[in-house]
Amino acid sequence: MSVTQLPTDQVPALFTPFSVGALQLPNRVVMAPMTRNRAGAGNVPTPMMTTYYRQRASAGLIVTEGTQVSPVGIGYPNTPGIHTDEQVAGWQHVTREVHAGGGRILLQLWHVGRISHPSMQPNGGLPVAPSAIKPDGQVYTAQGLQPFVTPRALDTQELPQIIAQFAEGARRAKVAGFDGVEIHGANGYLVDQFLRDGSNHRSDRYGGSISNRVRFLREVSQAVVGVWGEGRVGVRLSTISSFNSMHDSDPVGTFSAAARALDDLGLAYLHIVEPALGSAGYDSSAPRALPAIRAAFHGPLMVNDGYDARTAEAAILSGETDLVSFAAQFLANPDLVKRFRAGAPLNAPDSSTFYGGDERGYTDYPVYGAALGGVAA
Ligand SMILES: Cc1cc2nc3c(=O)[nH]c(=O)nc-3n(C[C@H](O)[C@H](O)[C@H](O)COP(=O)(O)O)c2cc1C
Repeated sequence: MSVTQLPTDQVPALFTPFSVGALQLPNRVVMAPMTRNRAGAGNVPTPMMTTYYRQRASAGLIVTEGTQVSPVGIGYPNTPGIHTDEQVAGWQHVTREVHAGGGRILLQLWHVGRISHPSMQPNGGLPVAPSAIKPDGQVYTAQGLQPFVTPRALDTQELPQIIAQFAEGARRAKVAGFDGVEIHGANGYLVDQFLRDGSNHRSDRYGGSISNRVRFLREVSQAVVGVWGEGRVGVRLSTISSFNSMHDSDPVGTFSAAARALDDLGLAYLHIVEPALGSAGYDSSAPRALPAIRAAFHGPLMVNDGYDARTAEAAILSGETDLVSFAAQFLANPDLVKRFRAGAPLNAPDSSTFYGGDERGYTDYPVYGAALGGVAA
């Protein structure tokens, strides 16, 4: 357990309201997207997922787990989708309950690109990617860990169809009752694979120069904003993470260009994953793209990765960001906002139950002040 005490002489900035595009958030504590592998047959959201999100409705904003926009976009077992009517119906329960609990919720639109395996692909096909470059390491499949395969490089004329799948996922998210969507452009999945030069060796207008590599991100974002309108679409990017075999020769140049390319689209926010100064993942020798992104993008900014209540408060007060999202701490503390406000102890996350399983480690984390063994409502 850990306790974070914030100054008590005034309301900390973390708990002040903020407008994100069309959304009014009661506080700046956002629940970060987290894959939990609890979807059912047909990648349909389950009642357990409804309980989990409802328990966390006091977040300023919830961003759901990554949700695939097409059967080709899947990369992990038991992850939800947003490309069938049954999936939409499952999500409708989630959004209804979060709204009944007074919350706001965005769906994270996801295409994994090369982070997949033929055993998860339609007709056992190869995963797709900007270039035929195999990620290092192994992929989680229903049959356990297996080596990655070399993906099939997408033809230029296939890209409009993938962009249309993001738009169709966005349209279905509306039917499912979400308040908006976040495009998953982070962590080594398809959009990020186009952005960084370690995974994008294309020679068409989607590869090579930085302005070519940000084109896919911009076109996906334009298409999704075309569905939702301004102020309802966020974009998530990760600037220096090497997760999923990622590398870029110039992260500051690439990601400030990406931020610039998104600046005129009327996004609700830009969500940047870059380790907080002094956090466990922080490396003082690594480049920091956040300041250049803040300068290039004039809409609301959300940051993530290794923040606690104190460092989040400091980041907002210094003007580095407007919002902060929390993943592991929200997973383990359904009432995280209340705990931060009270300076209360935090439950420790149990990583053995992060990815898959039942209610244990999912909907049974106790709320603060509940009788021993009590869980969130
Ligand atoms: C269990 C788990 C699942 C995650 N799944 C996703 C995901 O689906 N989409 C995403 O963008 N990031 C995902 N992440 C990354 C988190 O959103 C976040 O960037 C990371 O955990 C660092 O934030 P933290 O220090 O507050 O935990 C996941 C993280 C965890 C712990």
